[in-house]
Amino acid sequence: MTGANPQHDEPNVHHAAASPATGAAAATATVMATVMPPHRPRPGRPGLMIDQDRPSTSRVYDYFLGGQHNYPVDRALAEQLCLTLPDIGAIMRENRAFLRRVIRFLLAAGVRQFLDLGSGIPNQGNVHDLVGCARGRVVYVDIDPTAVETSLEVLADEANATIIQADLRDPASVLDHPQARRLLDLSEPVAVLLLGVLHDIPDRDDPWEIVRQYGDRMAPGSFLALSQGVAGTRPDSGGCATHAYNRGYADGAPRLSLRTREDTLAFFDGFELVAPGLVFIEDWRPKLAEDLAPLSAPKLPAHVPAPVPAPGHRAALGGVGLR
Ligand SMILES: C[S@@+](CC[C@H](N)C(=O)[O-])C[C@H]1O[C@@H](n2cnc3c(N)ncnc32)[C@H](O)[C@@H]1O
Repeated sequence: MTGANPQHDEPNVHHAAASPATGAAAATATVMATVMPPHRPRPGRPGLMIDQDRPSTSRVYDYFLGGQHNYPVDRALAEQLCLTLPDIGAIMRENRAFLRRVIRFLLAAGVRQFLDLGSGIPNQGNVHDLVGCARGRVVYVDIDPTAVETSLEVLADEANATIIQADLRDPASVLDHPQARRLLDLSEPVAVLLLGVLHDIPDRDDPWEIVRQYGDRMAPGSFLALSQGVAGTRPDSGGCATHAYNRGYADGAPRLSLRTREDTLAFFDGFELVAPGLVFIEDWRPKLAEDLAPLSAPKLPAHVPAPVPAPGHRAALGGVGLR
């Protein structure tokens, strides 16, 4: 783990110890060493300890969105995942496109304050970029130091947006944080966003109770928006992809919690789903021309299979509920 160790930040060097160097993984490492463009993430600010030896979900996601804030160990895992689930990048980009449509809907519904839980590394279609022109206020929350570091950098000149480094599993620490209190008035409607993050919260942490606690603090007229990876929609969306994902994060903890439709629906207890309800994210409300423009994707090594063409990637459900 390091806060500021440029020697560790070798853009084209594979960390063999962090990724089992067998079979496809070894091939991934070899090809990565030759094709990945150089990049130099900034060292962490004091207090933000960025671990470059183990992959992080925020940096793997950043990689799939074509971002630059990822390390060799993240790219190695991303490319391993592609071997198991070739369209995983397309799924993540669909999630980002879903986020954009959700924000447009919420703005049209009159919401002007947003709490984005598990906000990730700033990338294409950031919430504060989308709501900024409507003079909206945004509080981002992420547990990951790289997400916090990069968000602080991007938000340096933003008066109406900030990021809190916090664990969303502790709603009181988020909602009562001074920065949240500064920007959010919980006596007025707020949109709470939980996109692409609930699968990081295992059942044993009772994510339904966590969501309920946020709901209890939300004024009538507030919205809850979420997306969740679902099990059993396709032959490869459960078993081996989940296994590869969890093994990649190496600490032995189950990291990817796919859920059934019924369990996903239960997050909306106390909310009324707006049309079209809980559906695959690709089907949630019409896409505009700007949504159809593909989000940029990373250049994958030659041995990584090409993504399966749409409509192959139906792996996440999404919806918006009104309090
Ligand atoms: C896949 S990204 C999703 C980013 C964004 N919400 C989107 O949909 O585009 C998930 C993010 O959730 C963050 N995260 C995971 N568990 C968290 C927790 N317990 N508290 C706060 N953030 C968390 C990760 O660090 C990561 O940045």
